Amino acid sequence: MNSQDHTLPTLQIGPYTLDSPFVLAPMAGVTDKPFRKLCRRFGAGMTTSEMTTADTSLWQSAKSRHRLDLDLDADPVAVQIAGSDPAQMANAAVACVERGAQIVDINMGCPAKKVLRKLAGSALLKDESLVRDILEAVVAAVDVPVTLKTRTGWDREHRNAPRIARIAEAAGIAALTIHGRTRADKYRGSAEYRTIRAVKDSVSIPVIANGDITTLEKSLEVLELTQADGLMIGRAAQGRPWVFAELNQLLSDGAPFEPLEKKDLRDMMLDHLSELHRFYGESTGVRVARKHLTWYCEHLANAEEYRNRVVRVDSASEQLALTAEYFDRTDGGISRAA
Ligand SMILES: Cc1cc2nc3c(=O)[nH]c(=O)nc-3n(C[C@H](O)[C@H](O)[C@H](O)COP(=O)(O)O)c2cc1C
Repeated sequence: MNSQDHTLPTLQIGPYTLDSPFVLAPMAGVTDKPFRKLCRRFGAGMTTSEMTTADTSLWQSAKSRHRLDLDLDADPVAVQIAGSDPAQMANAAVACVERGAQIVDINMGCPAKKVLRKLAGSALLKDESLVRDILEAVVAAVDVPVTLKTRTGWDREHRNAPRIARIAEAAGIAALTIHGRTRADKYRGSAEYRTIRAVKDSVSIPVIANGDITTLEKSLEVLELTQADGLMIGRAAQGRPWVFAELNQLLSDGAPFEPLEKKDLRDMMLDHLSELHRFYGESTGVRVARKHLTWYCEHLANAEEYRNRVVRVDSASEQLALTAEYFDRTDGGISRAA
């Protein structure tokens, strides 16, 4: 299959028709406000804030404050919450809407231990009546669309996502994202898309497919296999936020995406660093930036020495200066393989 054979799906969530069916996955510790803005600049149809606990008494922590610092210029502003108590989830959803959320996303996909100990994230998939109670409580509490992100099931013997999807549709959920792994899989093995197709065939609300979509070819394959209304891209956007421009371009007219000019890449990375330094303050900003710099370097030519130096410095000015210096070199820039 090539891009010309494919009709670009339209992703509609409640009243919002997204400009692109390719959306950024929420990733705690990665998709903060600066990164979300960057991905939207490259054409992501929607971005969602990192998961925030539904326990609003914890919202004063620095971590929650950053996660709930919403980019109100996003259209729509989507915020993700996680928890297991229906009333607490409803209360958190209301508080998110008061802060400007236009879509509330419920996370039932996270396999992290800390969340599981409180029976949240994908552990909830085992208790379908609790899932129903949570979804109904949140939908009833807010006037904005409520979406659900989940996995294919509890484990490979219990792939109950199609049943969860029907529960969600009946509860008034506006769209579903399915990560093609079970809770027991964590991030091991490969995502599978048959269960996502089964979900798509079970409901009439929009379904977004997620998991291991790393290349243009893979995105076409997953669209074909799942018939999904949209694709959610996570790790493939790390250090490569222009992946959204590539996907949009390929699926709109089939023309290959022109690699970024060296100057544009340089300006983008310097802007991203400055935004991180401003958003978190210098000390945390420099630390958070190291992750992004390491990911960027995977796509940069002759970047080994630059990477080794830039992840070790402690000041914002040194991070910026080393980055500018790397791009001033004649052999610096995007790797052809990127
Ligand atoms: C570092 C990291 C943090 C994540 N945090 C969240 C989160 O806050 N909420 C959520 O629903 N999923 C979270 N996920 C899961 C992703 O949204 C996505 O479902 C998963 O990475 C699979 O997509 P991918 O193969 O395109 O990366 C996280 C994943 C990673 C790697």
